[in-house]
Amino acid sequence: MAANLAIIMITILFLVIHHQTTTMAATNVVKTEVFRSPEIVMEPGLVSNKNYFKVDFPGGHIGLKSFNAELVDERGDPVPLHQVYLHHWVLNRYFARRNSSGDNDLSIVRNSGICENGLSQYFGVGAETRRTSTYIPHPYAIQVGDPATIPEGYEEGWVLNVHAIDTRGADDKMGCTECRCDLYGFSEAGGGLHCCPDDGRCRLKQGFHGENKRIYLRYTVKYVEWDSSSILPVDIYILDVTDVWTKADQSKGIRATHHCKVEYGVESCGGGVEKDGCVDTESVSFSFPVGGEVVYGVGHQHAGGVGTTLYGQGGRPICSSKPIYGEGNEAGNEVGFIVGMSTCYPTPDAPVKISVGETLTLVSNYSSLESHTGVMALFYLLLAHTDPKPLPTLASKFTMVPEFVWPVALLGLVVIVIVVAWNGRNGNSEGYEAIP
Ligand SMILES: *[C@@H]1O[C@H](CO)[C@@H](O)[C@H](O)[C@H]1NC(C)=O
Ligand SMILES: *[C@@H]1O[C@H](CO)[C@@H](O)[C@H](O)[C@H]1NC(C)=O
Repeated sequence: MAANLAIIMITILFLVIHHQTTTMAATNVVKTEVFRSPEIVMEPGLVSNKNYFKVDFPGGHIGLKSFNAELVDERGDPVPLHQVYLHHWVLNRYFARRNSSGDNDLSIVRNSGICENGLSQYFGVGAETRRTSTYIPHPYAIQVGDPATIPEGYEEGWVLNVHAIDTRGADDKMGCTECRCDLYGFSEAGGGLHCCPDDGRCRLKQGFHGENKRIYLRYTVKYVEWDSSSILPVDIYILDVTDVWTKADQSKGIRATHHCKVEYGVESCGGGVEKDGCVDTESVSFSFPVGGEVVYGVGHQHAGGVGTTLYGQGGRPICSSKPIYGEGNEAGNEVGFIVGMSTCYPTPDAPVKISVGETLTLVSNYSSLESHTGVMALFYLLLAHTDPKPLPTLASKFTMVPEFVWPVALLGLVVIVIVVAWNGRNGNSEGYEAIP
């Protein structure tokens, strides 16, 4: 009987340890899932700018850790930017009425600000996507899928917008990527998204013929199961250098507005001007509505961009993000294209804080050796609003497991020893009552 009891105790002990390790692993392990957008059929010169509703995405109450994407062909091979230019991809979150067909009964769940029109996405970049880090360090994550926030009768969904331009055989590849109106058959000057709509066509070299190409946006989502005891939420803010800010005036009951134009043009500095002087600088200042700690920052610029910096009040740099230009031919290193943007990850030793109402200034520089149309300068910020409590880090939480389990194991052993000793002394085969 004592032997039986010992087996029972050991089994319980094993179950306790097993339970501890599996629950810890489930909450803290970063999972990775790879998905593919619906097929996009391209042909030389063609623009595709479509929204894909209800795209595949990890379900449940989770914390997003990163989102990376790239264009691939049918075999899964990366498509280089000089074949199909990825103008942008944007991922928006929405709530849709359950069982409703179509996309009319849904509302976009905007990020935390600050533009009123557009720029409501959770994630989104462009050509630089392959070499731009989007990883959110522990203990932070973007919280989604919280059942408490999803209205009754609705479900959470994700809509992916992919804007791609097939520049094979183009008369002016860079002009096509900058959506220059004349190249798309519009008579107006300049360029921008309005001149390269879905199904638009950029001018090809005379007599050029090329095959259709089936491509996909392949995206990789990293996430953790949500656990409010070990993860802190971050909020997403997108700033835009073209923001037209109207100051709040409480005495008149006027709230602040941010009208973001998203795109702008860069005029050429003209021939004969010294090379180093040919920089177009745009900047905007406004009062930031909330305070918080910067967890991650990155800028977004198009080809021609030479850097963007966000400053706090008094000129304190918050984050500088610089473009990485490709130098070769292969995907991820295409010459002439921005293939990555540098990022900012303030450390706990050197935290970067923004206070409520602080005046922020966003500066964007482009080379003006040549003119550019439809360029952008956005700044994507992740802010934590709660000071990090002394939370266990990912590593220390795992090393805590033995510390927590060992006292239980020791207690189990002591119980077994006492029971065995007690049974031995009494010679009692009905040893169960022996346990007090
Ligand atoms: C949705 O449809 C399913 C099956 O068609 C049904 O069982 C369910 O009750 C419906 N839900 C709502 C909210 O209408
Ligand atoms: C922008 O260019 C100006 C003039 O060349 C320079 O002083 C400034 O430091 C640059 N800023 C950024 C963010 O690159």
